[in-house]
Amino acid sequence: MLDFAINLAYRAGAMLRAATEHERRVDSKQHHDIVTDADKASEALILEAIRTRYPDHAILAEESGAQMGQSGYTWIVDPLDGTLNYFHGFPFFSVSIGLRHNGAGVLGVVYDPLRNELFYAERERGAFVNGRRIRVSATATLDQALLTTGFPYRRFSHPDNNLREFSHLALRAREIRRAGSAALDICYAAAGRSDGHWEVALSPWDTAAATLILQEAGGAITDYNGAAWTPESDRIVATNGIVHAELLRELAAAL
Ligand code: IPD
Ligand code: CA
Ligand code: CA
Repeated sequence: MLDFAINLAYRAGAMLRAATEHERRVDSKQHHDIVTDADKASEALILEAIRTRYPDHAILAEESGAQMGQSGYTWIVDPLDGTLNYFHGFPFFSVSIGLRHNGAGVLGVVYDPLRNELFYAERERGAFVNGRRIRVSATATLDQALLTTGFPYRRFSHPDNNLREFSHLALRAREIRRAGSAALDICYAAAGRSDGHWEVALSPWDTAAATLILQEAGGAITDYNGAAWTPESDRIVATNGIVHAELLRELAAAL
């Protein structure tokens, strides 16, 4: 199943990469939350392959919602994470494919087609990028930490929009980046390229694959209260484990 997911991520990623050379068309979901032809084409490719190969598996995918299955397996698919970047030509987006069995993560694959970087993990088998084992960083304190975050599309109309947390942490962390693909952001923490990621209002397809990759790389994931994180949690804190408690404290202080 890992080989199958990797192959699919490569195929969908190659399609997205090729399509960056053409004009990009957009349909509005809401004003700032957009869906492009590329989201739909990538999702169609992935879903068709899963349905053909595993007809009894359930699927949860961003653009088509949920499809039931009897096997206990659920594929969780973001066909293009970082749509806004993709649309603007900002080179940071990914394909994310996760698989859960009876609610527990089995495997995760996140592919960045522009850098040709494939992050993947299977439960209890470690995490890898392009075949190389990855580990979280050893950064010990927030003032030495490079963090990543994101802002929800609903920020214009909803007060829970991460602006207070961002302002607070901007004066405590070494630096903060908002790169625009939560799946890749969390994989970067897994690879030790950043020390942690926090965000509100993510969806299961943003996080299903990357969180398993981070866990397998030795990282920690909770909600803002330090409680066990689930793909349905509204708030995520995903770190190297060492700066986790300090980041939770500062998030609480900001709110
Ligand atoms: C978005 C990206 C972004 C995050 C948003 C997500 P999309 O996914 O992951 O980094 O901040 O909350 O919705 O819409 O590009 O698939
Ligand atoms: Ca997404
Ligand atoms: Ca998406």
